Amino acid sequence: MEVLVRRKPTMLAIISDIHSNVEALTAVLADIANRQITQIICLGDLVGYGPDPKECLDMVLKHATVTLMGNHDYAVLFEPNKFNIGAESACYWTRQQLEDEPDPARRNDRWDYLGRLAIKHVMSGKDMGLGELAFVHGSPRRPINEYIFPDDVYNNPNKVQGLFERFGHLCFVGHTHVPGVFLDTPDFYSPDEMEGVFEINPTRKALINVGSVGQPRDRDNRAGYVIVDGKTVQFIRVPYDIDTVIKKVLEIPELDDYLGTRLKEGR
Ligand SMILES: [Fe+2]
Repeated sequence: MEVLVRRKPTMLAIISDIHSNVEALTAVLADIANRQITQIICLGDLVGYGPDPKECLDMVLKHATVTLMGNHDYAVLFEPNKFNIGAESACYWTRQQLEDEPDPARRNDRWDYLGRLAIKHVMSGKDMGLGELAFVHGSPRRPINEYIFPDDVYNNPNKVQGLFERFGHLCFVGHTHVPGVFLDTPDFYSPDEMEGVFEINPTRKALINVGSVGQPRDRDNRAGYVIVDGKTVQFIRVPYDIDTVIKKVLEIPELDDYLGTRLKEGR
């Protein structure tokens, strides 16, 4: 007897920049669970800034099939690089939280997980009818630390165009916390300009910033992530309980109050 196995069509959820915001991450994972997602990819910055590093690490460890190293993950593991005073203080506080875990097995699991994060992931998009897909935290040139800002298309067009030589078809990044799509013209399109949906051109490269789960900076305070199928990249926004996060931040002296209050404004 012939058995027909019908595989679920591949649909990726790509999340980034969670920054120890467990309320935002919980809301995003619940939203993902309501869709036909086959794989969750995380572009890094699991920790830093927010009040719940351990919980966020545990949730990403459980749900994401690929997780990459962000500059804040790197900072907690090794040392902060060009961090402002608030970010640096949050980094050392986060490190202490991980160190203070009383259960040695859990403590080691988390440090091991952070220590094993790759800086880049490349995979074939063939089963979605796409070319090669690349994933990094910052940029395809300097995966952990380079920022690609929307203004770069005016201020530094050569930089943006140079990045397009470094990936196959689509490249997904985080790091700036500003979602949108770069084309090689160079151009930048915010999700609003595309009504939240980017139509993938099968023969044209695009560099896509997936935005931030835990600290959006595009003046929309809802948690952000993207869904990719063979045809589109959808920019999703999910409301979450911001006031609870602010309250937690205000109660932790090592976390600058602004790390809480900025969440309300989405910046
Ligand atoms: Fe970040």
